[in-house]
Amino acid sequence: MIKKITPPDRIRGTIILPADKSIAQRSALFALLSEEPSHITNYPAAEDPKTALACIGQLGAKVASKDNMIRIEGTGRDGITVSDGVIDCGNSGTVMRLLAGIIAGAGIPVTLAGDESLSRRPMKRIIDPLAQMGVDIRSAEGGLPPLEIRRERAFQSIRFRLPVASAQLKSCVLLAGLFGEEPTQVIESVASRNHTETMLGLPVQRNGNENIISSSRAVAIPPQNLEIPGDFSAAAFWLVAGSILDDSEIVMPSAGVNPTRCAALHILRRMGADIEIDMVHHAGGMEPVAALRVRSAKLRPADIHHDEIPNAIDELPVLCVAMAFADGISRITGAGELRFKESDRLVAIQQVLEAGGVRVEAHEEGLTIHGDPKRKIRAAHHDSRHDHRIAMSAAILSLRADGMSEISNAEAAAVSYPEFWPHLDSLTHS
Ligand code: S3P
Repeated sequence: MIKKITPPDRIRGTIILPADKSIAQRSALFALLSEEPSHITNYPAAEDPKTALACIGQLGAKVASKDNMIRIEGTGRDGITVSDGVIDCGNSGTVMRLLAGIIAGAGIPVTLAGDESLSRRPMKRIIDPLAQMGVDIRSAEGGLPPLEIRRERAFQSIRFRLPVASAQLKSCVLLAGLFGEEPTQVIESVASRNHTETMLGLPVQRNGNENIISSSRAVAIPPQNLEIPGDFSAAAFWLVAGSILDDSEIVMPSAGVNPTRCAALHILRRMGADIEIDMVHHAGGMEPVAALRVRSAKLRPADIHHDEIPNAIDELPVLCVAMAFADGISRITGAGELRFKESDRLVAIQQVLEAGGVRVEAHEEGLTIHGDPKRKIRAAHHDSRHDHRIAMSAAILSLRADGMSEISNAEAAAVSYPEFWPHLDSLTHS
């Protein structure tokens, strides 16, 4: 699908955000592991969360939906069965990496496969610790999917220091750890998103700058009874759009603002963005939720360093768009992980910005972006590379173009935000 973007004079309105993809996928996977039925409100219709439901269905969970709620009857930790040994994780790195931990712990023979993009994403990072836990995983060359998981050795609990600040890797090891008699410990020195710990109620010990998170068979897996909050990663597109267009104002009544997720909020405020955060509360679960309001603002440049990266990882492409309109030079460093997302996002966003006429310098682990608040972006043809966040970031950049831009493979947005294009239409026409 090709989307044409005609730059509006302003952008205004209220957006009901899609529900959080990270939390939704976890709620489905953890509901599979619970002995008690789970009731999840506001489960999103996006592609990745749908994949999570299909996968747990293949492993024996019963999923029924009614109105805005789904009911999941899990199998419990020891009841997981598999009717067909191949499970399709679609485009979802979270599903593949978290499910690998569950399958490895349960010790059932399963092959995890994915689409073309997922089949290019590195899995060695999970294969290594799972091998230490007694699990054999055969992968395609270079540690790529599909992953053929077999456990013929005894389960071994481990103490594992994360070599990369990745919530998917952390969660994979902790989920496998749930099947061990002895505790498995994961040590992180830079905190990545903490949804797994929070939703499973895992013990977290603070040791100086480090978190030590433990899991074992002693952890009773709670049913997942929650209302999934709005996705902060989706909100970030509108926070940037509302900032960079004159005379604009966007309200998002319900956005998840878990501190391990929303560094972009602080980065944008540091840049001078006019963002109000109201009514922080915990809606039907442990996750903090806020109403966000953004208005047009003059942006200053920002430097983003490695310690802020994990908590802004998915928002970096659209933060690069904001930087293109800042009054000076911005730098992102320590963001090499962006090369391993649904596309190489450092390359992808550089190309989007350059096609629009923005000067960008690429580094091994980051970008330098030359901003200009008055700049008109060159109308261009952008390709999403089948990456949802690149499709949506290119759209936000195109709102400031000197003519109509086009985005091909725009349907990729549905991976996390199926309503993105209608929402953009409604904001530009009100
Ligand atoms: C996610 C963690 C992040 C993020 C991804 C979702 C999760 O990946 O980029 O979109 O749900 O745990 P990494 O943990 O690999 O950084």
